[in-house]
Amino acid sequence: MIAAAKKVLRENDVGVFTRPGPKQYPHQWNWDSALIALGLSHFDLERALLEVRSLLAGQWRDGMLPHVVYHGVKSDYFPDPGYWRITGSPHTPKTPTSGITQPPLLASIIYRIHQRQPILEFIREVYPALLHWHRWLHEKRDADGTGLVCIIHPWESGTDDSPRWLELLKSVEAVGTVDFNRGDTRYVDATERPFQHDYQHFIYLIDLFRKHNYDQKALIENSPFLVQDVLFNSILYRANLDLKSLGVELGEDTSEINGWLACIQDGFIKRFWDEEQGLFYDYDLRHQRPIRVSTGVIFLPLYASLATRQQAERLVQDHFHDPVHYGVDKVVRYRLTSASKSLPGWDARRYWRGPVWILLNWLVSEGMRDYGFEREAELLRGDALQLMDTSGFREYYDARDGSGCGSEGFSWSAALAIEWLQTRN
Ligand code: DGY
Repeated sequence: MIAAAKKVLRENDVGVFTRPGPKQYPHQWNWDSALIALGLSHFDLERALLEVRSLLAGQWRDGMLPHVVYHGVKSDYFPDPGYWRITGSPHTPKTPTSGITQPPLLASIIYRIHQRQPILEFIREVYPALLHWHRWLHEKRDADGTGLVCIIHPWESGTDDSPRWLELLKSVEAVGTVDFNRGDTRYVDATERPFQHDYQHFIYLIDLFRKHNYDQKALIENSPFLVQDVLFNSILYRANLDLKSLGVELGEDTSEINGWLACIQDGFIKRFWDEEQGLFYDYDLRHQRPIRVSTGVIFLPLYASLATRQQAERLVQDHFHDPVHYGVDKVVRYRLTSASKSLPGWDARRYWRGPVWILLNWLVSEGMRDYGFEREAELLRGDALQLMDTSGFREYYDARDGSGCGSEGFSWSAALAIEWLQTRN
């Protein structure tokens, strides 16, 4: 299985970066790239570090690390670099990129690699860029002074068509969207991709952002989608902890990072925890209300160590094992469905509406292990490995029969298989 996974990473390698999927995703994606570097680090450390350097080449001058770096590669992917019109911003880098960001996994991945194979010189090189990105998130995306950061586009959540965004997107009037041709249903069946209505909104938001030349203040004021996301803030919190460890090793003053950590810690439970339901809900900042939709993201505070012991126990007992939500039953045999099975629009094969994603299993299993839920961590790892073993390295999987969906030859699935198999047998 390790050999097969390596082959996927090699085949998706285009020299300076690795495609998340051979046809569907022909450029460099931010958090995919971090995971790819993690997988590569097991057998080609230099190539893993190059992956990170290439991603950082797309960093904007104000610190933003974009969700896609195009690297001048020609493709049929939409939105193409021209569509973003990022050159209206004074902060753009030389290489073409998208104009939005993605969950900041990178610092944590670099820290993890460094713990196994010390790369202090490399860390000295990339630390300023990581710090700059995190500072940008805390300064430009803290819309209400709570220390929690906001996302302004479903793509920034990494869980594009998550049911978490349904209600909110319905309230957005996607008027005046420039004509566009979706490219994402060319290689993957439309029934496994976001609905047209959702896609219309994704593009509408880009149109709006480019009208404002990606001025963050204007985007926070004008984006109808303004959300404090449990996943994004959990990943950022853990990344801040890991960045701090790296900073300490380099002898840097880490008081600024301490400040960020304290803010998220103060605001997180107050904002996201729902005592009645016993889970964490995202917050729709535009309409000042919690988004009461249960998806696999409810377990992410375990990955960040932000949940109390009691909260962790409720998440495990009342949600993870409950067959109404995330437990297995006669029909749904694999964990972790990306959305609670109880949701009316639950869809076993459609993108983030229900299928199992290897990354989600990995993040949640890490969190489970940290809280001492070894059995649950093993269930997540075992199911993920079984899915990849029987259906190959796919983008996501149907939790009923384990069949693969979305892109074939998916890099982060392969990378995480390597990580799992090489670190715990
Ligand atoms: C896509 O093209 O579907 C990506 O998820 C956007 O980043």
